[in-house]
Amino acid sequence: MPAPVRVAVALANMNPEAWIAPLRETCAAAGVAAQFDVFDGRPLGARYAVVWLPPEELFTVESGLRAVFNVGAGVERLLALPSLPPNLPILRLVDAGMAPKMAEYVCFYVARITRGLDRFGGPQPAPGWNVDRPRGAPPTVGVLGLGAIGARIAQALQMFGYPVRGWSRTARSLPGIDCFAGPDALDAFLAGTRILVDVLPLTSETRDLLDRERLSRLPAGAHLINVGRGGTIVDDDLLALLDSGHLASAVLDVFRVEPLPAGHAFWNHPKVTVTPHLAGPTPREPAARQVAEALAALEAGAPPPSLPGYVGRARGY
Ligand code: GLV
Repeated sequence: MPAPVRVAVALANMNPEAWIAPLRETCAAAGVAAQFDVFDGRPLGARYAVVWLPPEELFTVESGLRAVFNVGAGVERLLALPSLPPNLPILRLVDAGMAPKMAEYVCFYVARITRGLDRFGGPQPAPGWNVDRPRGAPPTVGVLGLGAIGARIAQALQMFGYPVRGWSRTARSLPGIDCFAGPDALDAFLAGTRILVDVLPLTSETRDLLDRERLSRLPAGAHLINVGRGGTIVDDDLLALLDSGHLASAVLDVFRVEPLPAGHAFWNHPKVTVTPHLAGPTPREPAARQVAEALAALEAGAPPPSLPGYVGRARGY
């Protein structure tokens, strides 16, 4: 029997032990004997690493890695680690159960915005029975970023009867969704969007993309929901447009600095809802399954770029 493949596990803010059982089981089911150990700074001689926000020294201590699995969709902080070897293949999660949870979060807040649901259930005086029930055409929701998660959000909104448009870096085609692509189409996309849902990854192209000028392209009274990355939005520009009344509200789940620092203007702004980066928690079993399947494929000789979730370093996701 060949020695099991050694895998280093470095998962910040998660219980690594809880991940190891499903990872081991799904690897075994895929026919790969793998030994998963929590990385504690001592060398394991690992061939692979399963990570979320790993410590910088992982890549110097484990110098024999053939690939790293990112247990999340976003890789910007992993890519920013100076110790990350330039040619080490990275595989990130594709949906893996995050997309439906994020779609649920977005639909919840879209319903809250469009149906005035804040009027009920809070500490305010009872609104009574004869309240206004919105009966007009639902507003157009624009989804910025049409990867696995953005596409699922767009489809969920469509199911609830919203006209949905989407924007992506390169052309996409999704049934029933009005698709825009490329930087030249961004202004037209924004101009027809009444609720903007930002699902963008953070890359050199998307950093600060939504600045004052771009956010001003949204029609007056538009709303913003950000479940992508905080760094895609310029905080002060967003605050200025909320204060001027051009934007009606913002629901923010992601921030430039996390946790959002105490005292940040978002915390107490009357038009801002802050949630603590919980829109898309990574579900363990489907994520472990995706990692194990990719690991087994690599062990069988598949080239990393042929696998789902292979990160294009130049592209940044
Ligand atoms: C969460 O933010 C993720 O990138 O998976």
